[in-house]
Amino acid sequence: MAEKPLLAANWKMNPVTAAAAAALVEGVAGAAAEQASVAVALFPPFVWLEGVARQVKGSALEAGAQDCYWAPSGAFTGEVSAQMLATICKWVIVGHSERRVMGESSADVARKARAALQAGLRTIICVGESQEQHDSGEAERFVAGQVHEALAECTADDSRRLVLAYEPIWAIGSGKSAQPEDAYKMMRLIRRAAAEIIGTRAGTNLRVLYGGSVNAENVERYVGLPRCDGCLVGGASLKAGEFSEMIRRTAAVYAGGAV
Ligand code: PGA
Repeated sequence: MAEKPLLAANWKMNPVTAAAAAALVEGVAGAAAEQASVAVALFPPFVWLEGVARQVKGSALEAGAQDCYWAPSGAFTGEVSAQMLATICKWVIVGHSERRVMGESSADVARKARAALQAGLRTIICVGESQEQHDSGEAERFVAGQVHEALAECTADDSRRLVLAYEPIWAIGSGKSAQPEDAYKMMRLIRRAAAEIIGTRAGTNLRVLYGGSVNAENVERYVGLPRCDGCLVGGASLKAGEFSEMIRRTAAVYAGGAV
């Protein structure tokens, strides 16, 4: 894989001030600059996005949004379109479980992914099962279905800009990260499910991440897995020191030829 491993920092609805957002960028910039073998993308709340995008310009860091709307413009109060985002940043996340629980359907996710890719954004689509689905053995079927639905409007040409993130809902913010071997199996399943929609070659090319309670202590266990192309990090990405350590550890795993 020519692409670098990716650490994506999903700040969610944090931090509360522009100054704190700028300080967080500053706090991780050094590690990102030193570890050129790792791609690092920061996903601040919309209100800080333009400032963060300006701050990271020309640096080793990239910026992205946590969501987008599919229509390019119009009467959609409170929404921000993929086209607008593409004028200020390179990345977007769609289909995070914290948005799906608020009512975002698979069809919404598919339309958002299509709009984001068409706007030229690198697009991370999140999929993952609930605790109940996990416990009842439905995870594989459910997640494969989510991939099929999310990619319904995508083509092989999108694979260069497309990233899928396996984020089991029970692992998000819970401190209960998935067993690496289970994450590996699910990421392989996700790649295969994607290949069924966009073709084998494209499915092989796209990046697949793991997300859910990844921190400096366990990041090596995920980025060291075969065909794991990085991690989507929530809570630990808000601590500049810890996230910097994650960047260094990821670089060390790749330098060690563990993948
Ligand atoms: P977490 O969040 O790292 O805090 O578990 C991950 C995510 O929701 O993307």
